[in-house]
Order: sequence, then C-alpha cells, then structure tokens
Amino acid sequence: MPKIKIEGGHQLTGTITVSGAKNSVVALIPAAILCDEKVKISNVPNITDVNDLENILDHLNATTVRKDGTIEINSSDIINKEITYELSKKLRASYYFMGALLGRFKKVDMYFPGGCAIGARPINLHLKGFELLGAKITEEDNHFIIEADKLKGNNIYLDFPSVGATINIMLAAVKAKGKTIIDNAAQEPEIVNIATFLNNMGAKIKGAGTSTITIIGVKYLHSCFHEVIPDRIEAGTYLIIGALLGKKLKIANMIPNHLEALIAKLTEAGVDMEIGIDNIIINEVKDYKAVDIKTLVYPGFATDLQQVMATFLTQCKGKSLIEETIYENRFQNLLRLEKMGAEFKIAPDNRIAVIKGKAKLKGTYVDATDLRGGASLLVAGLIAEGETTIDNISYILRGYDQIIEKLTEVGAKIEII
Ligand code: EPZ
Repeated sequence: MPKIKIEGGHQLTGTITVSGAKNSVVALIPAAILCDEKVKISNVPNITDVNDLENILDHLNATTVRKDGTIEINSSDIINKEITYELSKKLRASYYFMGALLGRFKKVDMYFPGGCAIGARPINLHLKGFELLGAKITEEDNHFIIEADKLKGNNIYLDFPSVGATINIMLAAVKAKGKTIIDNAAQEPEIVNIATFLNNMGAKIKGAGTSTITIIGVKYLHSCFHEVIPDRIEAGTYLIIGALLGKKLKIANMIPNHLEALIAKLTEAGVDMEIGIDNIIINEVKDYKAVDIKTLVYPGFATDLQQVMATFLTQCKGKSLIEETIYENRFQNLLRLEKMGAEFKIAPDNRIAVIKGKAKLKGTYVDATDLRGGASLLVAGLIAEGETTIDNISYILRGYDQIIEKLTEVGAKIEII
C-alpha cells in the first residue's frame, strides 16, 4: 500500500493554486445526465472521486471525454440499469445518481452503502423528498428501487439543512410537473454551483444559497458549459498550513468569502493574512493563542475543516475547545495526533474536545481514518520534528488534487513511497 512520507519543519514560500471543489463536482457529474444533450464542465479537479463517477457514467452508457481540466458528458444514449454495489460503494456522492436517474427516468435501481468513519450518515431526508415528489421506495440490504409513475412538485421541509438531501431533491425536481419548494435547505456554495449549472441547461431554480429553494419543473434541458467553483475546503486546508509554515505563501484561485468563519478564527488566533479578491497571502508565522470553534452548517465553521483546524490548535498557546455539532465521530484523528505528542481531552459524548497547546509534535507512523482526518495528519507531519509516515492515503488523494506536487512546489519535503 502506498504511503506518504514527510520530513517536517520546512518553511513554505510561493503560490499554491486551489482546484475545483470536490463537493461540487461530485454532484455536477451526476446532474449532467439530466441534460438531453451534451454538457461541458471546466475546472474539474484531478481526484479519484471524479474517476469513480466516470466509471458509473460509463456503466450507464453515457460517454465522457476528459481534456486538461474539463469533462464533456453526453448522456443522449444513456441506459437506465442497476448501479452495482462495486460501483456505488467507492464514494458516498454516488447517491446523487438517485436524484438524477429519478429526474430523468422516474426509476432508480442502485445499491447504496450507508455510513462511514465519521458517522452513520443516513439518507432519510433524501428519501423523504423523493416520496413527497411522488416516488415509491423499496430498500433491502442497501439495494434501493425508487420509482414514480410521474413526479409532481411539492413542498418539502428538511428537518436538517442537509447538503446531500438539498441537492438530490433539486435533481429530482427540475423535471417534475409543477412547483417544488425546499424549506430549511442547505446554503453551502456548492448548492449554488449545482443550481446555476441546471439553470444554464434551462431549469427554473430560484433561491439557491438561501434556506428556501423554489423549482419549477421543465420538460427539456439543453446543452451548456459550466465551471466548478474553487474548493473552499482545500483552500482552507492550505490556509491553515500557511499559518503554520508560510513565509510569503500565497493561496490563489480561491473565494475568501466562502471561508469567513475560518478567516475570523485564524485572525482571532493571531494569524497575519493579506486577503485579496481571489487569494490570501500569509506573510509569516507568528505566535498563536488558543481559540474555540463550533462546527455549524454554512456559513458557520465548516465541519470539513474541523480536523485540520485541530492540528493548528495544537500549536496555539492555551486551551482550545472544539464542538463538533454535525457528525458523531469526527475526532479519530486526535488519537493519531496524540501519538505525535498532541495533548487533548475528548468529552464522553464525543462531541467536544479540548486541545492544550503549544505541543511539540514529533514525526512517527500514523494511519488516516477518513479524508479530512488524513489531511489533519498530513498537516501535523509538515510541522512535526523528524519524519512522519501516513498510511491509508487513498482517503487523502480522494479529496486533494495533486497535494504532493502542490506542497513540494512551495518547499515541503513530502513524497509518496
Ligand atoms: C456533504 O456531505 C459533504 N460531502 C461532506 O463532506 C460534508 O461534511 C457535509 O456535506 C456537511 O457539510 C459531499 O458534499 C460529497 P449532510 P452530506 O447531508 O451531504 C445528517 C468531505 O470530507 N443527515 O449535510 O452527506 C448526517 O448524518 C465530506 O468532503 C441525516 O440525518 O452531508 C450528518 O450528521 C465529509 N439524514 C448531517 O446531516 C439525511 O438524510 C450532515 O449531513 C442526510 C443527512
């Protein structure tokens, strides 16, 4: 199994360019099959999740052409057939084929395995939305059959502003008859990116990015060109790396106002940032003080940045408190950071952790348990004294386009062995 080897302590100088957003592109690609013609998407990140989705499109007889950062998808000859466990288990975002196939064919036959390292991650809200649009659902051992004689618009209230449920319901509703209103919808920037893509094809979606989204069903969706927004989680990860090791380090091709909560917290800790229109420069590393963070839905502090922020907080003087309100099991990386010298306590409910800084981290062997947990170990390796080896790195490569190359470029000693 390949591993990442890092020699810690090297200052980082230069420019890191952020790629297209994983959590947008993994919805845009399934959404493309709603189109009755060819679509083209640019700024596609080079991550394994994209390849896994392409395999599902190929399985459905849709054609894809990848060329320097763009993907062209033609689903005019698509065949609606069962999506196997083998194909769907590769990534959770395979569930977007539920909304897309329901929207296009009114029938879905696919396996979908629930849960993952950070939590149970049920899809009850997705299914509630499909039923309210007129679909009948049978599920047996993760095998879902979802079908509707016809899809009719309806009012759908989400008990929790779920990103996945908001997008999946949108995909099923764009071709439903009449009007759908999604109340208490998620407001993440990726939702806006999908809605704009669908509107570029001729859909009628209003309110994306707010808590109420209105969709008027249409019959036909035409060809269009669209761009993936910059990945705010990748950008935030590099911002935190810059705060720890940067000397005139520029994080480019990002959208600062997608990271308001992180920027506020890093500023509170004492990080010196120059914030531009589409970039942020960290001039030099300072001494940082402890801050408290609480993960919330957008625009609150992103849960996907909590684990990497935990590594940063080990370098802040004093006691920092982390409250993880979105997932029930997102502190596993701390157990690995402990092996490197981090000091913390986790409350019995596994929702609150207190980190004591400033800790001296020493390189050792650690294993990634999930994507962002792996990223937090990589950041720890970059600052630790000596050498760190990270195992199970496929998690990391799923969500960070060319992370080894991007960090090597600015002076990190990091390689895949
Ligand atoms: C998306 O997952 C992201 N993944 C996650 O990023 C991110 O952590 C999450 O949104 C929250 O921001 C993708 O976009 C591919 P949710 P999603 O539905 O849509 C509960 C990463 O590292 N819930 O907003 O699955 C659920 O259990 C990944 O890039 C239900 O109870 O997140 C969770 O506790 C990790 N029932 C909470 O809502 C449902 O039907 C947030 O889930 C759906 C969700």
